[in-house]
Amino acid sequence: MVNTLRAAAISQRFGSRVVLDAVDLEVPPGRVIGLLGPNGAGKTTLMRILFGVLTPDAGRVEWGGRAATDGDRRSWGYMPQERGLYRDMRVIDQLTWIARLHGLDRATGERRAAVLLEQLGLADRAKDKILKLSGGMAQRVQLAAAMVHEPSLLVLDEPFSGLDPVAVGFLSDVILAHVRAGRNLLFSSHQLDLVEDLCETITLIDRGRVVLHGDLRALKAASADRYLRVDVAVDPSWVDGRLAEPVTTDASGTRLRLAPGADPGTVLDAVRANGTVRDFAVEAPSLSELFLAAAGHQAVDDEPELQGSNR
Ligand SMILES: Nc1ncnc2c1ncn2[C@@H]1O[C@H](COP(=O)(O)OP(=O)(O)O)[C@@H](O)[C@H]1O
Ligand SMILES: [Mg+2]
Repeated sequence: MVNTLRAAAISQRFGSRVVLDAVDLEVPPGRVIGLLGPNGAGKTTLMRILFGVLTPDAGRVEWGGRAATDGDRRSWGYMPQERGLYRDMRVIDQLTWIARLHGLDRATGERRAAVLLEQLGLADRAKDKILKLSGGMAQRVQLAAAMVHEPSLLVLDEPFSGLDPVAVGFLSDVILAHVRAGRNLLFSSHQLDLVEDLCETITLIDRGRVVLHGDLRALKAASADRYLRVDVAVDPSWVDGRLAEPVTTDASGTRLRLAPGADPGTVLDAVRANGTVRDFAVEAPSLSELFLAAAGHQAVDDEPELQGSNR
């Protein structure tokens, strides 16, 4: 039986506030699954429900086609959003201790810890205390702690937040290795641009509801929206607003949203009549543009104002 994690029709209220509203989620093995949405969307609450930390008002969590048990959950690994490591303990001792809590003997625990530290670029810090590490390094140790027992399913809550690009690279490689070994992986993020290239399948949630889910490349291909990217700063007055509108301009140029049915060549000609274009491309929506189209607002960092039935 293939081990797939499935959460079905999960609903959760805190007081009168609906935080999750009939949310479905599927995490099959061998794929990078992103649970994405702005702060306050309900991602952490859903992960806590998956692990049985919280019992939902409605819905069920299944592993391999039947209700998930405590035993199943012990075979999983969880990196919570609030990191908890003993700051006074040496890195290698901490990881070995966690491995032993999971029932491994000391030698096996030490061996797995050493392999993980190597993969995470921390081999030379094994004997340091956590308090001597930078925030990004401590976060990598936290990931090692979540997977030192080689979990079948790895669940990471906001693993990338606050990380420098080097740490993001190490983390991405470890995530991919876990998935390529045929295991299950779910991670959450509110930073859609950061995780765009890593996600294979996405579940986008907003204010406790799934607004879009599926294979990311298929979702992009299926979207009728098209964007024109040019390497010049476009003034809105250059282009007929009925054909296209600039959505972002930065040092590398401007991204324009094409109106339905607008010919990209006509828009490109209008830009060229005003500026020199050396590079351009017609592109499908980015992940944050898919979110915007599905949710009706940007996936900004601030917690959204709750409305209507959520009150
Ligand atoms: N224990 C709790 N009691 C009351 N409200 C909570 C509790 N935990 C989370 N919430 C609220 O539930 C909503 C979703 O929170 P959370 O799951 O942490 O979102 P996310 O992880 O997507 O940022 C937020 O409005 C948050 O304030
Ligand atoms: Mg969260």
